[in-house]
Amino acid sequence: MKIALVGATGLVGREMIEVLEERKISCDEFIPVASARSVGKEIKFNGETYIVHSMQDAIDKAPDFALFSAGGETSKTYAPLFADKGTTVIDNSSAWRMDPEVKLVVPEVNGDIITNEDRIIANPNCSTIQLVVALNPLHQAYGIKRLVISTYQSFTGTGANAVAQYEAEKKGQTNDNYPMAYHYPIFENCLPHCDVFLENDYTKEEMKLVHETRKIMNAPQMNITATAVRVPVHGGHSEAVNIEFEKQFDIDEVKSLLRKEKGLILQDDIDKNVYPMPRFARKKDEVFVGRVRRDESIDKGLNIWVVADNLRKGAATNAVQILQKLITD
Ligand code: A2P
Repeated sequence: MKIALVGATGLVGREMIEVLEERKISCDEFIPVASARSVGKEIKFNGETYIVHSMQDAIDKAPDFALFSAGGETSKTYAPLFADKGTTVIDNSSAWRMDPEVKLVVPEVNGDIITNEDRIIANPNCSTIQLVVALNPLHQAYGIKRLVISTYQSFTGTGANAVAQYEAEKKGQTNDNYPMAYHYPIFENCLPHCDVFLENDYTKEEMKLVHETRKIMNAPQMNITATAVRVPVHGGHSEAVNIEFEKQFDIDEVKSLLRKEKGLILQDDIDKNVYPMPRFARKKDEVFVGRVRRDESIDKGLNIWVVADNLRKGAATNAVQILQKLITD
């Protein structure tokens, strides 16, 4: 088995290497790929050293699988070239997610739709992945009518440039010393602006939450609205989620459903100040849910707080889980 990793030098790419190693995924040939400036650099995987390849070299090697995390434009251009060689691409960018021919997969929710005939499989947006893992058991039980989502998203989701901006600002360096990933400082700030603004005045990140959630949960009618905020936090994304259900629910049953769900950990004991926090989600593969409580302003409403490491379950772990499903099925 040959596996290519496109974007191997990036934040998500490096996380993918760790997750592949932890899950003991070995291959006959590992092909790390990055931009022209990184070709020839060394990358360690499973104790061996590999040289970073150019995209064309990797395509010519016709790998069985290619994990992509090198931005939307790169995926749009190169994923089809791998697919033409028979490679199955698992793409972490937004390039293919809403293509009706491409499956958008979170294994815990809709992993059963994957087949070995799929050539490009899309990995959802980080904030959507953790959201649907938490919502799925509740939607199955009570039917979700409406969602109001407010996110508190780590700057690591923007990539290496954003980490460099944060680190420089923390040291008190001026903006001339490093490339700005954002229009404003991220250190000691909150930016109600994730990705670009769209014609409807929402950001692309906010609309990803709307469209991708509907697609993964196969719920085209679900009413969803979101505000996405970038925060100076390292460990992961947090989300305050207000849910209105079709059916009445019992709060103890809700907790029991969440407790039983695969990939989900209920951390909810307010007497002991137990609730999920991004600082403690770092490097964890699960989604954490807490602050589960009835919304007393409506009849069938619930509030929950959802946290996950955006580089892990929000990106690398989910992609590797898709790969594992393809390998083992
Ligand atoms: P490089 O390190 O050579 O720039 P991040 O999201 O953390 O910024 O990482 C982006 C990743 O995508 C990096 O590994 C980067 O490589 C890679 N990348 C960016 N553009 C291309 C491209 N045109 N072809 C291949 N890899 C790319």
